[in-house]
Amino acid sequence: MYIRSIFFLVLLLCCTSSVLSTKDKDDENTLLKIKKQLGDPYSLRWWVKGFDYCNASANVATEYSYITCTSTGRVKSLVLHNLDVTKPFPDGICGLTEMEYTEISQIPGLYGPIPSCITKLSNLVLLGIMKTSLSGPVPDFSGHTKPTNLTGINLSGNQLSGTIPPSIFTLPNLDSLDLSSNSLTGTIPTGVLQTKNPSLGLANNSLTGELPKSYGSVDFWLIDVGGNQLSGDASFLFGKQKTAVNIVLANNEFEFDLSYVEFSDKIYGFDLSHNKIYGKVPDSFATAAGLYYPNLSFNKLCGELPKGGNMWRFSPAVFAHNSCLCGPPLPSCSNSAPAPAPASR
Ligand SMILES: *[C@@H]1O[C@H](CO)[C@@H](O)[C@H](O)[C@H]1NC(C)=O
Ligand SMILES: *[C@@H]1O[C@H](CO)[C@@H](O)[C@H](O)[C@H]1NC(C)=O
Ligand SMILES: *[C@@H]1O[C@H](CO)[C@@H](O)[C@H](O)[C@H]1NC(C)=O
Ligand SMILES: *[C@@H]1O[C@H](CO)[C@@H](O)[C@H](O)[C@H]1NC(C)=O
Ligand SMILES: *[C@@H]1O[C@H](CO)[C@@H](O)[C@H](O)[C@H]1NC(C)=O
Repeated sequence: MYIRSIFFLVLLLCCTSSVLSTKDKDDENTLLKIKKQLGDPYSLRWWVKGFDYCNASANVATEYSYITCTSTGRVKSLVLHNLDVTKPFPDGICGLTEMEYTEISQIPGLYGPIPSCITKLSNLVLLGIMKTSLSGPVPDFSGHTKPTNLTGINLSGNQLSGTIPPSIFTLPNLDSLDLSSNSLTGTIPTGVLQTKNPSLGLANNSLTGELPKSYGSVDFWLIDVGGNQLSGDASFLFGKQKTAVNIVLANNEFEFDLSYVEFSDKIYGFDLSHNKIYGKVPDSFATAAGLYYPNLSFNKLCGELPKGGNMWRFSPAVFAHNSCLCGPPLPSCSNSAPAPAPASR
């Protein structure tokens, strides 16, 4: 898998900001409120009245959770990671009004809904809430004060339910949306991410229906909708001119003819396994220059595999469990599926 992790970038950005000692009294009180709402966890023990929350070197001592500040001493980023708490979401976070980056992750004891006030943090650039037990709907960004600078949302690995709010696609700079591994239902809204090469992760939910046809005009960098109950055609994600690097459709009920699909030179991997894809493997499969990690297994493909090109890269497992594929690296066509003997007429 080839996943762009925007949150690694945050870590880099955060930690290069200079050490400052200016502070904001309101943000200090807000941080103390958040700590209280979390039930005073031991790993936030240094958050005490008058603490130097902008001091990056003091921050290092705090096991994974940390704060960085703007030049005026306002909280710019807040990372809460791996806390041993059993509490609802600390809505005090919505009081950090200058905040640009926040990541709240690996806190399995965090339960209840994500408060809607989070969408009013108008300076947000990255919002990450991952691997918690938070439930309820994905926040709705249709309000007037929506964070127009928001470029990344990662809400993967929670217990969010309901449908995907179409308003999320109205965020003009949203480049990466990851809602994987929740309990989302319904169809995928027709809206598309507005940026040039967006990344969309909707894997491992309970989404149904077809992929919106509007996705045919998007040059995704990554799209992962694996592990849902999606059906119908998805061939429009592919094409000679497309720039998608990774396409995951695995474990759905997609049903389309692969014979007419053209693979671009940009594509690096795709997982189409466990669907109902039929037809033959097209010649562009063998000639797509950048293709290293395809997976066509567990479908209804048939016929002779293309020859030459980059076929040497691919193991038999790539093609396993189809209706009647044959030819290298699978057994040759005459052995595996003998043509009916010419009948004597
Ligand atoms: C979202 O967070 C999960 C869990 O930390 C991570 O594995 C995944 O790569 C992130 N998604 C993006 C698009 O960065
Ligand atoms: C920041 O914290 C470190 C470690 O606690 C301390 O040595 C240093 O003096 C502090 N810097 C400022 C500017 O307060
Ligand atoms: C968005 O980012 C730009 C450029 O960094 C900044 O000037 C502007 O204030 C930000 N807008 C909001 C609403 O934070
Ligand atoms: C979805 O679930 C499958 C099977 O458990 C797993 O292999 C895959 O990595 C998951 N995808 C994401 C994006 O979490
Ligand atoms: C293809 O997908 C199947 C089913 O998910 C998996 O068992 C197999 O290991 C994968 N093969 C390759 C080569 O990735």
